[in-house]
Amino acid sequence: MVRISHSHWLYLIIIISSCLVTLSSSAYLPVKAVNLGGWLVTEGWMTPSLFNNIPNKDMLDGTQLHLKSVTLNMYLSAEGGGDSIIVANRTSASDWETFKLWRVNERTFYLRVSMGQFVRISTRSSRLVAKATNPSTTEAFVIVRNSNNRVRIRAPNGLFVQVSTTADAVTADYAEENTNWGDNDPSVFQMELGRQFQGEFQLTNGYGSNATSVLRNHWSTYITEDDFRSMANDKLNAVRIPVGWWIASDPNPPKPFVGGSLQTLDNAFTWAEKYNLGVIVDLHAANGSQNGNENSGTRDGSKEWGTTDENIDQTVAVIDFLASRYAQRSGLLAIELINEPLAPGVTLDSLKKYYQAGYNAVRKYTPNAYVIMSNRLGPADSTELLQLASNLDKSVIDVHYYNLYTDMFSRMTVQQHIDFVNNNRSRDLNTVMVANGPPVFVGEWSAECGGCENKATKEDYQRFAQAELNVYGGATFGWSYWAWKNVNDHWSLKWMIDNGYISL
Ligand SMILES: *[C@@H]1O[C@H](CO)[C@@H](O)[C@H](O)[C@H]1NC(C)=O
Ligand SMILES: *[C@@H]1O[C@H](CO)[C@@H](O)[C@H](O)[C@H]1NC(C)=O
Ligand SMILES: *[C@@H]1O[C@H](CO)[C@@H](O)[C@H](O)[C@H]1NC(C)=O
Ligand SMILES: *[C@@H]1O[C@H](CO)[C@@H](O)[C@H](O)[C@H]1NC(C)=O
Repeated sequence: MVRISHSHWLYLIIIISSCLVTLSSSAYLPVKAVNLGGWLVTEGWMTPSLFNNIPNKDMLDGTQLHLKSVTLNMYLSAEGGGDSIIVANRTSASDWETFKLWRVNERTFYLRVSMGQFVRISTRSSRLVAKATNPSTTEAFVIVRNSNNRVRIRAPNGLFVQVSTTADAVTADYAEENTNWGDNDPSVFQMELGRQFQGEFQLTNGYGSNATSVLRNHWSTYITEDDFRSMANDKLNAVRIPVGWWIASDPNPPKPFVGGSLQTLDNAFTWAEKYNLGVIVDLHAANGSQNGNENSGTRDGSKEWGTTDENIDQTVAVIDFLASRYAQRSGLLAIELINEPLAPGVTLDSLKKYYQAGYNAVRKYTPNAYVIMSNRLGPADSTELLQLASNLDKSVIDVHYYNLYTDMFSRMTVQQHIDFVNNNRSRDLNTVMVANGPPVFVGEWSAECGGCENKATKEDYQRFAQAELNVYGGATFGWSYWAWKNVNDHWSLKWMIDNGYISL
């Protein structure tokens, strides 16, 4: 008989229990997951009705405008792109003629020019200049709109902005309150709205004091325990949950973000555990925005994440917070450190530095959770992170495959889409899945395809989705569909399953 001492028993128990925990996180592999997109990070294209009750809702943060003087028929322009005067002498509008809104309230805005400064009145004259770096009351312009998108702009000095006949001086010195909005009024501009954003910043800042109730209602109704039950019934085994950086300062995040998403994420863990689904917590929106898209919580499309050490450290602190809170939850499958950083703005060096530090933060709390590293979007080599990840136990590379967003895809026939998945995507995936390398996750894909909306039949979608499932099913870590719910049916896995387009 072998005698086992107390201390040996202790070791044995530790080894067995850590095996059990290890089993529990790898038990979900390969992952068949769905993204709970549009839930804790707003994306207006998925949930447009959330924006319905915002006053002046086409003038949210980041909205790009061109302003054309009706007397001169010329566009306002920030000379040199910024850090100089505002003029009114351009016959066509592009970057220098584009003003991005920062919304103060439904009628009051800061106007940001392409080089990043804000418009204000010169300290020496009544001319407008683009020279402010931190906007406040001296940069707050009221935009008075008529029904034909003609506008007048009341400057912080209480007077209206006007053009002069020489076109190169734009001044804030027009006192006349009344206007007939006619072509003879030098204070009237035709406003042309360009790119708009509908993300978390736009929603919360747009609703102002009503944002908390709007979002709490959304969080508690958009995804419920029933959804987790359905996902399990549909043979999914995990969820990927996008979260924003502000979740770490719940219940009092910096304005305009609102608290409550953390409690919702806690609920998600409880439901996931009840139905045996693994949870991938995905930092989708990093402070400063890593890609300038609305899904990263951007204010105006700027991409500023990763440009300072302080910003990287603050983002590591968000991961630290999430890891410490959820490390002991049996449902925790993985933490994804950041979603879709965009090259070349996010440099490989700063990203690797962040990934190493984020990995270490997770490992302070758990040896078991996978740590997922998203490849960069844009002109980046899909193997650029393999060396780093190969040296970090249980790290995973995330790649996203959409047959969308470029002319090449919108010109393809359905059969060409299918061939592209079978040939090019499988080759792309095999390029990343190297021997002794990290497992690879197709963390986002959908059965929508470029140009398909108008021409593809149900059978086409079935064949396309099946091709994707076959190829992405070969990913060593698994895949996750974008998304569970979406007003655009083909982007909703729930709709696709309920309507017989996809079966797992
Ligand atoms: C617009 O006015 C500015 C300031 O006078 C001048 O420097 C610039 O050349 C003008 N641009 C055009 C296109 O007329
Ligand atoms: C908040 O909602 C109330 C009632 O719908 C509305 O009257 C008010 O204007 C809203 N406030 C904002 C800032 O949207
Ligand atoms: C977010 O970024 C801003 C601007 O870089 C910075 O001032 C602020 O401290 C950051 N907040 C957090 C919580 O990271
Ligand atoms: C896709 O693969 C085919 C051959 O398998 C190749 O001819 C084509 O150029 C590839 N397309 C792209 C966009 O890489």
